[in-house]
Amino acid sequence: MKRILIIGPASQILGIKIAKQLEIDYFNTETKTFPDGENYLRINIEDESLIDGKEVIIIQSTGPSSSGNQNARLFELLMMIDAVKRMGAVKIIVVVPYLAYARQDKIFRAGECQFANIVLTILDSMSIDELYVVDLHAPQVLQEIQCKTVNIDSMKLLADYIKSLGAKDIVVVSPDKGAVERSKAFAKHFGENVPVDYFEKKRDVKSGDITMSGKLSLKGKDVVVSDDIIATGGTMAIAIKISKESGANKVYAVATHALLLQNAKFRILSAGADDIIGTDSIDNEVSKVSLADAIVDYLK
Ligand code: R5P
Repeated sequence: MKRILIIGPASQILGIKIAKQLEIDYFNTETKTFPDGENYLRINIEDESLIDGKEVIIIQSTGPSSSGNQNARLFELLMMIDAVKRMGAVKIIVVVPYLAYARQDKIFRAGECQFANIVLTILDSMSIDELYVVDLHAPQVLQEIQCKTVNIDSMKLLADYIKSLGAKDIVVVSPDKGAVERSKAFAKHFGENVPVDYFEKKRDVKSGDITMSGKLSLKGKDVVVSDDIIATGGTMAIAIKISKESGANKVYAVATHALLLQNAKFRILSAGADDIIGTDSIDNEVSKVSLADAIVDYLK
């Protein structure tokens, strides 16, 4: 069956790379915001029969950016799904490299909602066939929905990039004990015996303030501080500062999804990081590692 790729406004560069690797036709979208704040999207296509009877892949990240916040990105994604359904797509595969609201997967305070699950439920309710995400914050939430889901792992791509920078005598450091299993899996891509250590992070559920503790032996080591998301950079900045104080040589701040909100870049670099490395799940100046190969491997 012929496949078509629809490239959403938040994943333009990654989308084109994927279309070229898959050697399939692709269309982009036209978007605007109405004066009342509502979103508008149309797929840039004049002949709807090009979608009718086809297997359609949609790619759209849902992270915040200068041209749209998470909610706008999510609505655009829903609009793309609805448009291709209406035009007669027979199979719909949705690729969301960064899934908004993924961190709202549990209840921290009375009265909250688990919105990560709701976002997934909405996508599932649109009768999509397959959903691909990347390094999801809490992958177990995928079990809540019916359609086929895949959580793509970006760790090998990130590790290959860091190795290409000449990093040696590496220690992988998790800024949070809860993420240490992820860091262990990451460390394996640097070699069999690459050590992993972690800090104990505590976040005040009301103020959001972070404290971190831990005494790590990092003297002369090249340290890779690895997390799934960099949002404001607060977590990374503290972990980097302590790593430097513990004698680290080079320190790399690495995350699959580098949202870089507020003064994140300044915080991380002024804490002593030599580089900030993210993937193109978020299209910005630190998206040095492309997810295209990993996504294409699954779509082939
Ligand atoms: C939280 O559990 C995540 O894994 C990240 O550690 C967090 O999102 C980072 O946020 P920030 O950059 O604002 O400290």
